[in-house]
Amino acid sequence: MPRKILVTSALPYANGSIHLGHLVEYIQTDIWVRFQKMRGHDCHYVCADDTHGTPIMLRAEKEGITPEQLVERTWHEHKRDFDGFHVDFDNYYSTNTPETRHYADTIYTRLKAAGLIEVRAIEQFYDPVKEMFLPDRFIKGECPKCHAKDQYGDNCEACGAAYQPTDLIEPYSAVSGAKPVRKQSDHHFFKLSDPRCADFLKQWTADPAHVQAEAANKLGEWLDAGLSDWDISRDAPYFGFEIPGAPGKYYYVWLDAPIGYMGSFQNLCDRTGLDFNEYWKPDSETELYHFIGKDILYFHTLFWPAELAHAGFRTPTGVFCHGFLTVNGLKMSKSRGTFITAESYLNHLNPEWLRYYYAAKLNGSMEDIDLNLEDFAARVNSDLVGKYVNIASRCAGFISKRFGGKLGAVDMNACAEFSSAFAEGAIAASYEERDFGRALREIMRLADVANQYIAERKPWEMAKQEGREAELHEVCSTALTLFRDLTLYLKPVLPKLAEQVEVFLNIAPLAWNDIWSPLPAGHVINDYQHLMTRIDPKKIETMVEENKQSLAPTPEVAAPAPIKHAQHQQNEAKAETAASPWEPFISIDDFTKVDLRIARIAHAEHVEGADKLLKLTLDLGTETRTVFAGIKSAYAPETLVGRLTVMVANLAPRKMKFGMSEGMVCAASDERGGPFLLSPDSGAQPGMRIK
Ligand code: 2FM
Ligand code: ZN
Repeated sequence: MPRKILVTSALPYANGSIHLGHLVEYIQTDIWVRFQKMRGHDCHYVCADDTHGTPIMLRAEKEGITPEQLVERTWHEHKRDFDGFHVDFDNYYSTNTPETRHYADTIYTRLKAAGLIEVRAIEQFYDPVKEMFLPDRFIKGECPKCHAKDQYGDNCEACGAAYQPTDLIEPYSAVSGAKPVRKQSDHHFFKLSDPRCADFLKQWTADPAHVQAEAANKLGEWLDAGLSDWDISRDAPYFGFEIPGAPGKYYYVWLDAPIGYMGSFQNLCDRTGLDFNEYWKPDSETELYHFIGKDILYFHTLFWPAELAHAGFRTPTGVFCHGFLTVNGLKMSKSRGTFITAESYLNHLNPEWLRYYYAAKLNGSMEDIDLNLEDFAARVNSDLVGKYVNIASRCAGFISKRFGGKLGAVDMNACAEFSSAFAEGAIAASYEERDFGRALREIMRLADVANQYIAERKPWEMAKQEGREAELHEVCSTALTLFRDLTLYLKPVLPKLAEQVEVFLNIAPLAWNDIWSPLPAGHVINDYQHLMTRIDPKKIETMVEENKQSLAPTPEVAAPAPIKHAQHQQNEAKAETAASPWEPFISIDDFTKVDLRIARIAHAEHVEGADKLLKLTLDLGTETRTVFAGIKSAYAPETLVGRLTVMVANLAPRKMKFGMSEGMVCAASDERGGPFLLSPDSGAQPGMRIK
């Protein structure tokens, strides 16, 4: 029975470019949707740009355009990038549309009628120059904990502390630089603390079909801690929908973002005649799945189902949550050139290489996935080119040249392994469970089986020997049938390559059950055209270099640093970049592990037999230490005696050839010279701690 399935990916903000981090989700969802469609299910994939909020308003202002113009331009860029990666939405829409407004109003009005909306006055920071309330990310100041300057209003990037913007010392507006004042205004709250919501959510989240086990644990913690009411309004000036009956109050972007799923689907229904209600009515028999990143779990598994359930709509069948992307084991970084936009990737590399690599890494869990650029090239080259494409390239020529393009009989015994794998259904089950890595491992195992078949039969030798025509014909026809089957299995991941293969094999678009019918004898195929090249690692290097070169200071409103939506619901801009040459950052706790002290060099001498070392006796005020320091090239011992410097006092003692070294002195150096010993300002005394 064909299932009726509606699938969404999170809506990207309309003020930033699509990058390889975003693509983990869109590629993953697209693969799943393509798989469902190949199985004959009625599956619809919708998405949209998330267009509302303060950052988009300010960004447009900065560019001297209207938010509508910004949103329009970004939509085209996003669509181009998704098309480039073959992410095939059935509808890619926008939240700034009548459909989304309609459902936002419907949901709000129904929640209000149910007594789940409350208006309360709250005090917030207000920019008196810009005349606007400031979201947390647009307030900066000194961290109340570690006193680092210029920290955002929600958490400190130096020490990691989370706090309220009102806790900041010397706060200032990141928009105008003005000192913000505290001002009261009425806000609309969705009463998530109402027992109706809590009871419903306890039940809803307990169903393992709705959320992954890892997510359920996290949700349990949140539910046990008790849910707070959710502030769903913002004051003018704001780019969004005004709340009916509340002039000057707008729906907060996070209220209308998920409602954008409904807006986009309504638009699809209007275009294609699908029945919206069939998919969204409370007792709907259709399935609804949201693919999301782990940073927006709270929104999709608590607010969203509670909102839907109490506004008379169906709730999701499942929320599929994934982890973040790292590149070469680290957070994407502009300085390292690993903050790679979709556009820049497409300028250098084949999108299906990335689709394959991501698929190989995805397993349906919430773990982060790593794009290791070396492994990426090695994996794609070995699996796709070395194992898969190789099957066709080794056999197709014989069919064209020796048999006029006509296939012969297929050796069904050679297909046995494939047939039993298909009958077991392991590949389909892996796709269904979003364990694409497992699916691809099984597919590559079958590719090995096919390659082994060819290697054992050696068609190239048959071709040279007289009287082996029939055998050659059968081996090549069999190999191409196996190749067709592998293509079918890979089609959700490699849709364009599969299309090329369909042209080459002269067959209709592959559907899942085609596996049961081998290519018939007498079927005429087209000449083989080269299907895929190997990744040249130099191209990856060039791409990374190019991304390094395009480093430019990021405007404040364009790309605020990462936030945790779940904990800081008032933040309106999501992580786009974490561009810093200093990553990975350490916490203040990491830093304080290093006990740096002022030391007086009480004595310094040469070390017999050592080319680079001087032996220093360091006075820490309360004790002396012996340290062997590699500074002989720059200092004569007698010039050091009596001076103050900085030592690492808690470095584990190390036995050296010349004796025990009980610490380390700090010195600067690079290709311009050094080592240069550090000296404190006058007044510092031996033993003082450096912090
Ligand atoms: O976190 C984000 O990027 C949001 N724009 C996601 C919205 S997803 C959904 F709620 F629409
Ligand atoms: Zn701090």
